Amino acid sequence: MLIKRPADIPSSEITDKRLYLNRREFVRAAAGTVAAAATAVLGTEAVLQASQAAAHKRKLSGVKSSPLSASEKPNTWEQITTYNNYYEFGTDKDSPSELATNLKTEPWTVTVDGECNKKAAYHLEDVLKGETLEDRIYRHRCVEAWSMVIPWVGFPLANFIKRCEPTSKAKFVEFTTLYDPMQMPGTHLPPAFGGLRWPYVEGLRMDEAMHPLTILAVGLYGEILPNQDGAPIRLHVPWKYGFKSIKSIVKIRFVEKQPLNTWQDQQAREYGFYANVNPNVDHPRWSQATERRIGEFFKRKTLMFNGYGDQVASLYAGMDLKANY
Ligand code: MTE
Repeated sequence: MLIKRPADIPSSEITDKRLYLNRREFVRAAAGTVAAAATAVLGTEAVLQASQAAAHKRKLSGVKSSPLSASEKPNTWEQITTYNNYYEFGTDKDSPSELATNLKTEPWTVTVDGECNKKAAYHLEDVLKGETLEDRIYRHRCVEAWSMVIPWVGFPLANFIKRCEPTSKAKFVEFTTLYDPMQMPGTHLPPAFGGLRWPYVEGLRMDEAMHPLTILAVGLYGEILPNQDGAPIRLHVPWKYGFKSIKSIVKIRFVEKQPLNTWQDQQAREYGFYANVNPNVDHPRWSQATERRIGEFFKRKTLMFNGYGDQVASLYAGMDLKANY
């Protein structure tokens, strides 16, 4: 993001060629050095039981369709799983699909901490306990002005939050991604070459986190989430720019003060805490008025709150959305 321009321009064209090639070589070389550690790992099947053969042999069972789904045609599996932002596996869109394949997602623990009564290290099975998985077709708008429609499988984050019993002091929720340089070659990339400060952190205000549209996703297209899309569990907040939707979550912390999210920490002038999709507030380096849906030629107009205004605009009543970008 920091070093990227709108997605229709390949990074090979916008970055000095030498730097671009060095960056790719650097991340691939780092991937080589961690390969030995990674060969011992397997996928998520034992946690999220794959019930039957499906297109990719990872079908989730008991998935119900949700009335909250967008009525738009989803992007293809190919597009959703090969055009990704997951900087822990490199800054190029195709790097995560190549370099995240061996990420060890089982066993997986999500630590709950901070202002709540049920602090604990939860196995993924416990996070999913009692949840009905739902198909949620959501619009996904990246701050880089591209978008997709993704058929997630997930459940409301609110359900899990309630089980954690936050105290009255919990005003925000902070999420953290796994940071494991042995498995994540992109974390070796210095900030000057497009790397970030790790671990990746995101945050939501409590009412945003409790909103029925906010989900923890564990699958897409009815199958277990591929690693490059944030396996085994990631956030999706459909009215916000994609960077709020943190992947491979290992920690959820209830806090009193607004957390500092990774991109705000990196470049506060360009990336805010709220990150609500807003065609009227441009990114300092490009317009947010339009977007290119991956797979389409013509740009389309970006909708306020990514088209979810009826459901979420009231959360921001009275707020200056230019100041709170
Ligand atoms: N989470 C982590 N841990 N690392 C990342 O680099 N990128 C964010 C978000 N979550 C990112 C992350 C950005 S910028 C976007 S646009 C979305 O993931 C992309 O999600 P997708 O690859 O499933 O489309």
